[in-house]
Amino acid sequence: MEWGMRNRIARMFPAASQNTVMLAVDHGYFMGPTHGLEDPRATIAPLLPHADAIALTRGVLRACVPPESPTPIVLRVSGGATVLREDLSDETITVAMRDAARLNVSAVALSVFVGAPGEHRSLANLAKLVDEGQDAGIPVMAITAVGKELEKRDARYLSLACRVSAEIGAHLVKTYYCDGFEKVVEGCPVPLVVAGGPKLDSDRAALELAHAAIEAGAHGLDMGRNIWQSDHPVAMLKALRAIVHDRASVAEALDLVTEQVAGGPRANRPPVALAPGGRVAPPRPRASHR
Ligand code: 5RP
Repeated sequence: MEWGMRNRIARMFPAASQNTVMLAVDHGYFMGPTHGLEDPRATIAPLLPHADAIALTRGVLRACVPPESPTPIVLRVSGGATVLREDLSDETITVAMRDAARLNVSAVALSVFVGAPGEHRSLANLAKLVDEGQDAGIPVMAITAVGKELEKRDARYLSLACRVSAEIGAHLVKTYYCDGFEKVVEGCPVPLVVAGGPKLDSDRAALELAHAAIEAGAHGLDMGRNIWQSDHPVAMLKALRAIVHDRASVAEALDLVTEQVAGGPRANRPPVALAPGGRVAPPRPRASHR
């Protein structure tokens, strides 16, 4: 792998943990002004300094992120269908690689719809993007989208979708957590990051999902609604960082949320204090991005 590509990947996975906490704010590209993201600039501003990368579209990047920001950009480059249609899988590539390069992004991301009517087109989009990314030194993240069929999020389906994405050449894959997620990790030779999906019942449930994903071998998160639809977005993001980078337990992460909200003793301390002695358990074998 060439220096530019390696540098872009390293910037998205900056910590000793070799994991990442990406902030996902790209939902508007097919959902419109989603709850919590009606005003992207206002949602993004307090969260941006705490994210290892931000995943968004070209329009929101230009309009809502200051060009001085050092946070790496993961640019969504697929689209073309909206929630008004039953089938969301009819996507095309919406940004030329040369514009992604001009925007100085760290990665481009597109959805693949395995098993959906748009399967072939989305996989062909991925192949084209990987070729163009190789030329530009820009890594490609495949997103194993399920459209409105959320029940597809099981280990058998996700293993297939992740593996196919990796075989075509995706450098990273974003997928969903599921029961038996270890199998998905095992079958995917490139690093996986996990989305949160629709808002869960509680902050605890989202922290549990993140914890289970990391324990099972995920390289991090690319999470949106369970952060910015929480009552405490910044505290949640910091608590997720503690899990992803410091292997904090769910109880420790929840304590951090409580203390941040109350402005307690840990409110301004880095989350690394949560995990004295570093990792609490040896990490599972997983694909490397270094
Ligand atoms: C939207 C996406 C989102 O970025 C992804 O689903 C992560 O966000 P959330 O945690 O809200 O699911 O790909 O198409």
